[in-house]
Amino acid sequence: MTDKRCMRILLGVTGGIAAYKSPDLVRRLRERGAEVQVVMTEGARQFVTPLTFQAVSGREVRDSLWDAGAEAAMGHIELARWADVVLVAPATAEFIAKLAQGRADDLLATLCVATASPVSIAPAMNQQMWANPATQSNVATLRGRGITVLGPGSGDQACGETGEGRMLEPAELAASVLDSLSGSRPLAGCRVVVTAGPTRERIDPVRFISNRSSGKMGYAVAQAAREAGAEVVLVSGPVSLPTPAGVTRIDVESARQMHDAVHAALAGADIYIGAAAIADYEPASVAEDKIKKYSDTMTLELIRAPDILASVAALPARPFVVGFAAETRDVEQNARSKLENKRLDMIAANRVGDGIAFDQDENSLLLLWSGGREELATCGKLELARKLVGRIAELRAGTTRAKADNVVRVRR
Ligand code: C5P
Repeated sequence: MTDKRCMRILLGVTGGIAAYKSPDLVRRLRERGAEVQVVMTEGARQFVTPLTFQAVSGREVRDSLWDAGAEAAMGHIELARWADVVLVAPATAEFIAKLAQGRADDLLATLCVATASPVSIAPAMNQQMWANPATQSNVATLRGRGITVLGPGSGDQACGETGEGRMLEPAELAASVLDSLSGSRPLAGCRVVVTAGPTRERIDPVRFISNRSSGKMGYAVAQAAREAGAEVVLVSGPVSLPTPAGVTRIDVESARQMHDAVHAALAGADIYIGAAAIADYEPASVAEDKIKKYSDTMTLELIRAPDILASVAALPARPFVVGFAAETRDVEQNARSKLENKRLDMIAANRVGDGIAFDQDENSLLLLWSGGREELATCGKLELARKLVGRIAELRAGTTRAKADNVVRVRR
């Protein structure tokens, strides 16, 4: 969890008697620093009023797909993106069945289908309903899809029976959701800006200068950062790759456009990862019409394109800055001088040329930072990106701690 923004929990409440404990769950989550948006089903409203949840969560409750006013303020897809985690507590047998079928006929079910964030459910029902083979098979389906099932516990039930099917206690639910988030999702609550792909610098209306880059590494980094829980903005040059789920993509063409898009996206960013192959030079002027071939030789005047990475690193309140270095020789030496000259927090270097790295699905990286190095052996780009993001999260946490220590020292 970052020092910057709270963990965002979307709490789904469905219609079971255990819903009377959910306002307490909201309080427990908020006590631990989380922001909670409650979404109720029709059934839940039979047990607890939206006003109760509004009072304890401090946010208006959402309960309908068809509420034009609420949708205008934050559409349901936006709400699905907003959440770092979706927790359904209590989750009834009916809602579990609906989720297993992937249905989206009410707001909460739609959000569960539309979110790229992890989903946890806390089943609560009569012990016989829990033991029913249909329920057990639905729960197994959900587990197989990566949904976390918290509980149920066993004991006395509202119906007078005893057995398995009680919702876990609010304090236990709050702890397990928040603890698992900060462990497996080390960038939860962070905003990360990633650049990827090549840029194109126009010469005339039909020609441009560009760099060799498929964008695969940058896209893998954006996906890995999203998986680690971050809110990710991907500023991309022209590539033919699908946008990773849950990532906001901004398409640009030239280095200047990328520079402007990056700086516009940086507000509130914790980490900047520059994986794009950005042009170092751009034509001094762009011909209005197609240039004709009148002579045997031609000279193109080029001027320096903005160095985006250096400009981000030079910001007074800069994020944690990570650059890439694609080198054809003396990889470590060249990368280390880039790390120092551009004042980066980390650089990820690799050898390129002769069919190495470009357009490939595999790559290897040498990570360098002040006083440290780590070699990441050849593997798929997504796996590599996950290792890189894990390392960034660790180093950044160290830096954040060091900064916090400084503050304490200065104050003394
Ligand atoms: O200086 P060099 O281009 O080798 O450094 C590579 C790193 O710098 C990459 O992270 C790349 O995204 C970034 N870069 C940049 N702006 C440029 C050129 C490179 O941000 N104009």
